[in-house]
Amino acid sequence: MDKILVLDFGGQYNQLIARRVRSLSVYAEIVNYDKITPEEIKDRGYKGVIFTGGPNSVYDETSPHFSPDVLNIGVPVLGICYGHQLMAYMAGGKIESAKDQSEYGKTLLKVKKGTLFEGVPEESICWMSHTDYVSKIPEGFEITAVTDVCPCAGMQDDKKKLYSIQFHPEVTHTEYGMKMLSNFVFNVCKCEPNWKMDDFAKTSIEKYKKQLAGKRVLLALSGGLDSSVVALLLHKAIGKNLVCVFVDHGLLRKDEGDYVENLFRNKFDINLIRANAKDRFLEKLKGVTEPEQKRKIIGKEFIEVFRDEAKKLGSIDVLSQGTIYPDVIESGKGASAVIKSHHNVGGLPKDIGFKEIVEPLRELFKDEVRAIGLELGLPKELVYRQPFPGPGLAVRIIGEITEDKIRIAQDSDAILREEFIKHGLDKQANQYFTVVTNTHSVGVMGDARTYGYTLALRAVTTDDFMTATWTRVPFDVLEIISSRVTNEVKGVNRVVYDITSKPPATVEWE
Ligand code: XMP
Repeated sequence: MDKILVLDFGGQYNQLIARRVRSLSVYAEIVNYDKITPEEIKDRGYKGVIFTGGPNSVYDETSPHFSPDVLNIGVPVLGICYGHQLMAYMAGGKIESAKDQSEYGKTLLKVKKGTLFEGVPEESICWMSHTDYVSKIPEGFEITAVTDVCPCAGMQDDKKKLYSIQFHPEVTHTEYGMKMLSNFVFNVCKCEPNWKMDDFAKTSIEKYKKQLAGKRVLLALSGGLDSSVVALLLHKAIGKNLVCVFVDHGLLRKDEGDYVENLFRNKFDINLIRANAKDRFLEKLKGVTEPEQKRKIIGKEFIEVFRDEAKKLGSIDVLSQGTIYPDVIESGKGASAVIKSHHNVGGLPKDIGFKEIVEPLRELFKDEVRAIGLELGLPKELVYRQPFPGPGLAVRIIGEITEDKIRIAQDSDAILREEFIKHGLDKQANQYFTVVTNTHSVGVMGDARTYGYTLALRAVTTDDFMTATWTRVPFDVLEIISSRVTNEVKGVNRVVYDITSKPPATVEWE
C-alpha cells in the first residue's frame, strides 16, 4: 500500500491534510516532526512527505526544525504554510516578518506556473494565515505563485521534486486545494489509489474472533458514533463476552440516556451496564465556574465511575476503546497550542489496569468510521447525528452547573432540534444547540417584572469543525424558537442568536 507521511509541525489543520489525502484513496499517516528521521522516512517507504503548517516563526529558538537531509533523500516533499517557510529556510532562502501586513483569510492567488498547479486557473481563491513570508527563495527554486501582498505564495524545485505553498490547500476555502494535493500525490509521488475501506469490518470481526476468543472485554460506551461502532464490531466477534459500561453523567441531551440503553440492550442485545452518576458529577462540579477546570473534573470523574463499575465486574482481560485516528494524533501532539482539553470516552488512561487494550478504529477518520457504522446496521440517525462533546451540556452551561441550568439546556436544546428538523435546517447546519449563558436580564411577563437567563442559540455550517461559519437561519424560524423557548422553558426571558464564525470564536462556548 502506498503511503504519504504528513510531518507534523503543530498547525491546527494537520489532520485535515491526512484526511484529504485519504479521500484520494491513498493512505496517509501523521508523525510528529521529532519522532522520525530522514533515513526512517526513506526506509519506511513513504512515497511523499508533506510538511504541515505550525504556529511558529522559523527563526524562533523554540520553533520546530527538521534535518535538511530530508530534501536530498529522493522522496518528494510538499511544504504548507510554516512548512513552506521551513523548506525555504532549510534550502538556504530567507524569511521575513510582514508585521504590518499579515495575510489572513480568503485571498486571491495568482498562479504563474508549476507542477502543483496543473489544471488550476491563473486566478483563484486560497486560504492564507501568516505573518512571516519567504522574501528570498533558495537556489534551484522558482516562484510558482504570488498574491497581492505575498511575493512568494508558491515555489518549486522540480528537479528535486520539492514544492511548497504559503496557503492551506487542505481547507475547503482554497478552491483548487484538492486539485493541488492530487497533483502532488498522483503526478509527483506516483501513488496508486489503493486505500479501500470496503472490507474493514469483515476483516476486523474475523481478526477479533481469533484474538479475543475466550476473553472478557470491557468497553466504555457513550452512545456516540465511535464507541457504538466498536460495540457492534466486537459484539459480532465475541457476543456476550463483550460488556459495555455506559456512564450517564447527567449532562446528556434530553432522553438520550434512555435511547442509548434501549438501542444497545434491546435492539442489538448487547450486554450493557448503565451507571447513573449524575449526582456524583454534580457534587464534584459544585461551585466550579472555570471552563477548563470543569472539563478536567468531568474527565476525572468519568474515569472514577468507570473504574468503580469495572471493579464490580470482577476479572476482565481486555479493555476496548473507541479511539479513532484524530484522538491518537491529538494525544501524541507536541507543538500545537491547547485551545480546549478535549475529553472523550476513548481517552481512558493507560494505567486503568487492564492487560490488553484493543482499539479497532485506531487508524480511521470519522467519515471512515461512519461508513463502517452503516455497514454494521447502526441507525442512520446515530451515524449522522451531530457531534456531541464528551463533557456534554457542561460546555454549554456557562458558570456553575446546577440542576436548574441543566433542565434549561436540555429543554431548550430539544425545542431547537425539533424546529430545525421541522424546517429542514438540520441539513444546512452541521451542529446546532443552545447555550445557557450566565447572564440575567430584566423582562416583562404579563404585568410582572422577570429576571431570567439569556439563552443563546448556536448553529454552524462546516465540513470539518476546524473552521465554521454561522448558519443563516431564517428570521421566521428564529422567531418560532425564541417564542417557544420563552413560553415553554421556565427561567428564560431572552433569546439571542450567535453570529460568530470559527475562528475567531470556537463552536462551543466553553
Ligand atoms: P470547538 O468548540 O473546539 O469544537 O470549536 C469543535 C468540535 O469539537 C466538539 N467538542 C468536543 N468533542 N470532547 C469531544 O469529543 C470535547 O471535550 C469537546 N469539546 C468540543 C464540539 O462539539 C465541536 O463539534
